[in-house]
Amino acid sequence: TLLLAYGFILLNLIPIRPFCIVLFSEITDTFVPTCPSMPLGERVDCFPDSGASQDKCQERGCCWSPRDESNVPWCFFPTNYGYTVESQETPNAYAIKAKLTRMESPSLFGQHIKELAIDAEMQTKNRLRFKIYDPNNKRFEVPHEHIFNPTPSSPINNTLQITQKPFGLTVRREENQNLFYQNRGPVVHNGLQSIWGCNLFLNIILIRFVSVFSPDVTLQPAPAVTYRTIGGVLDFYIFFGDTPEQVVHEFLKLIGKPVIPAYWSLGFQLSRWNYGNLSIVKETVERNRAVDLPYDIQYTDIDYMEDKKDFTYDKVKFAELPQFAEYLHEKGQKYILILDPAIATSKRVGDAPYESYDRGTAKNAWVTESDGVTPLIGEVWPGEAVFPDYTSQACIDWWVDEYERFYREVKHDALWIVSQF
Ligand SMILES: *[C@@H]1O[C@H](CO)[C@@H](O)[C@H](O)[C@H]1NC(C)=O
Ligand SMILES: *[C@@H]1O[C@H](CO)[C@@H](O)[C@H](O)[C@H]1NC(C)=O
Repeated sequence: TLLLAYGFILLNLIPIRPFCIVLFSEITDTFVPTCPSMPLGERVDCFPDSGASQDKCQERGCCWSPRDESNVPWCFFPTNYGYTVESQETPNAYAIKAKLTRMESPSLFGQHIKELAIDAEMQTKNRLRFKIYDPNNKRFEVPHEHIFNPTPSSPINNTLQITQKPFGLTVRREENQNLFYQNRGPVVHNGLQSIWGCNLFLNIILIRFVSVFSPDVTLQPAPAVTYRTIGGVLDFYIFFGDTPEQVVHEFLKLIGKPVIPAYWSLGFQLSRWNYGNLSIVKETVERNRAVDLPYDIQYTDIDYMEDKKDFTYDKVKFAELPQFAEYLHEKGQKYILILDPAIATSKRVGDAPYESYDRGTAKNAWVTESDGVTPLIGEVWPGEAVFPDYTSQACIDWWVDEYERFYREVKHDALWIVSQF
């Protein structure tokens, strides 16, 4: 049986503490690492940085045991490192919540979080979610607004077991109790760094990350993934299925299905920055038509705009833009407009009001500073700019309205929305 897992971590990337690492400030004289002989594959590297030595390793409270094998860490975490389960509750048959406390040991990165919480939930028969976080400091989390309501139907204890000391997780498939996922090695959490080792048995794991650091697969020789991140929330979903298709199916049940793109959007497309004016664009189109180049789509980049302001067009150099789509449609081609959604704060030509900006301001459509009020100002193509906050309904309403207004002015077939930088 091929088992597949798909996990992803949603991390917030906003550091809430000053980046101040006090290394090894918590050395306790009393700490004695427990270093039983363990399969080499299960060693989790305690000294991924360079310059490991016995002294430095033991200073970290880790175990030192040199080996000839090249990929086996000499300095590795002891078994009494990490967290223990302080209390555990089962709000219902499908969920487990636990509080974890850090065991006394030297601190690897400083500023360890003493208490952690884990929430685990069997959301459907084939979907387990578990989340490890700092219960005392709430942080921004990616909203899960489009996630389908869980329909729990399988008691969580058939799938997930929690080991108490040190804290660990084992995930088994309910049907056959095949070992599916097990964390090995310590959970180290200090708000800046998390090390999370896990062994995967007979699995292919696809992992998508939103994190600053990539998974570091060299920390552990076993078939395992070690997550090293600069902290935040460790939020995992594990999907069960007997085939890759079933796992993908489970994944899509969580995130929704992709939009089927328009057939024409798969055709050849021509785009460049700075054609100069619409006559040049048309010359380009004609030139390609003349040699029968089978291309479906012509773009104009933001130089079609008036001073690179969204929802405007240059009334001199691109004066006939409203008719341009029709000109393409006559030959079965499509027209795509490029838009960089940062909205200029400045007035339009002739000191005329820039109405898209004014309407957005009236609707509080912009990303704000941390006070939640003052619009965050940036500097993008049109100069000083604000940024639409698409997480707010007011912004969505504003955007839809602006877009409809502009569509009535300049007919086109699609937008290419470039990153909001
Ligand atoms: C799960 O819990 C139920 C009772 O809540 C128990 O009957 C069952 O044996 C448990 N399953 C496992 C695998 O521990
Ligand atoms: C378009 O740009 C070209 C090249 O700069 C110039 O020769 C031409 O006169 C322009 N056409 C219009 C209508 O502005």
